[in-house]
Amino acid sequence: MSAFRRGSWVSLLELCWVLMGLWRLGAACPTSCSCSGTRIACVDQERGIMAFPVLQSELEMDNITDIYIANQSSFSSINDKDLHYYRNLTNLTVTNSRLTYVSRLAFQNNLKLQYLNLKDNNLSSLYWRIFRHLNISNLILSGNPLHCSCENMWMKLWLGEEADAQELKCIEEGGGRKPLTRLNPPHCGNGPKIHTHTHAHLPMILKTHTMDLIFSTNHLL
Ligand SMILES: *[C@@H]1O[C@H](CO)[C@@H](O)[C@H](O)[C@H]1NC(C)=O
Ligand SMILES: *[C@@H]1O[C@H](CO)[C@@H](O)[C@H](O)[C@H]1NC(C)=O
Ligand SMILES: *[C@@H]1O[C@H](CO)[C@@H](O)[C@H](O)[C@H]1NC(C)=O
Ligand SMILES: *[C@@H]1O[C@H](CO)[C@@H](O)[C@H](O)[C@H]1NC(C)=O
Ligand SMILES: *[C@@H]1O[C@H](CO)[C@@H](O)[C@H](O)[C@H]1NC(C)=O
Ligand SMILES: *[C@@H]1O[C@H](CO)[C@@H](O)[C@H](O)[C@H]1NC(C)=O
Repeated sequence: MSAFRRGSWVSLLELCWVLMGLWRLGAACPTSCSCSGTRIACVDQERGIMAFPVLQSELEMDNITDIYIANQSSFSSINDKDLHYYRNLTNLTVTNSRLTYVSRLAFQNNLKLQYLNLKDNNLSSLYWRIFRHLNISNLILSGNPLHCSCENMWMKLWLGEEADAQELKCIEEGGGRKPLTRLNPPHCGNGPKIHTHTHAHLPMILKTHTMDLIFSTNHLL
């Protein structure tokens, strides 16, 4: 009797493991998205998604290089593990949605990410360390209610003239808007002058000691 009961507990446990495994790997491509071999696109406004799709197998997700999300009014965050299995992701677009939060670990596992388009969302700030380990060549942030704060100072430094090209604006405490390139909030410390960096690519800037110095004097580290 007790042997039988122990046996059924074991198979119950096994069943739990199997179910948890299935749950972890999620379902197939959501009906509101289209998934080809290398690309996932979710643009259906009526049947919106709230988070990144998780495909059936890790192998399938390994093949994805491009994720395109547009017009998703319930899509508001990119969390720690959301993109964990998309290791070969090079292009990510989340546009005209409600993106408000991007975790510091959001792209931890996406070392190939190069193109990141977060245009027309609800981002008030973005922490620079999110990108520290990446070689981002395109970062598009226009159409977000960015604050004119020390926290966003890196965007001006990183993007240089590109910030003007994107017509990036930031919102001051009183509600006024000004070009991000004119962002010069007080109390951010007196970092080295930045004009020498404006033509460099993003990762190069981030890796210079000068930049680290700027950020440490700004208490952003
Ligand atoms: C998003 O919505 C706008 C306005 O409804 C539409 O013009 C645009 O084509 C949509 N984008 C996509 C990728 O479906
Ligand atoms: C991944 O892509 C390769 C090469 O295109 C293909 O042979 C393979 O079947 C794909 N794997 C999955 C799980 O889609
Ligand atoms: C995805 O990346 C892995 C290494 O992380 C690599 O072995 C694999 O070939 C890549 N697949 C594609 C389709 O690029
Ligand atoms: C990724 O973005 C770059 C830059 O816009 C573009 O040239 C390239 O075609 C995109 N790749 C894919 C797979 O969409
Ligand atoms: C970024 O680019 C540099 C130089 O091209 C290279 O050494 C480094 O390995 C790249 N990093 C990643 C994460 O691809
Ligand atoms: C936009 O973000 C702010 C926080 O920065 C939040 O309070 C607000 O609800 C968000 N708006 C929408 C439409 O999600």
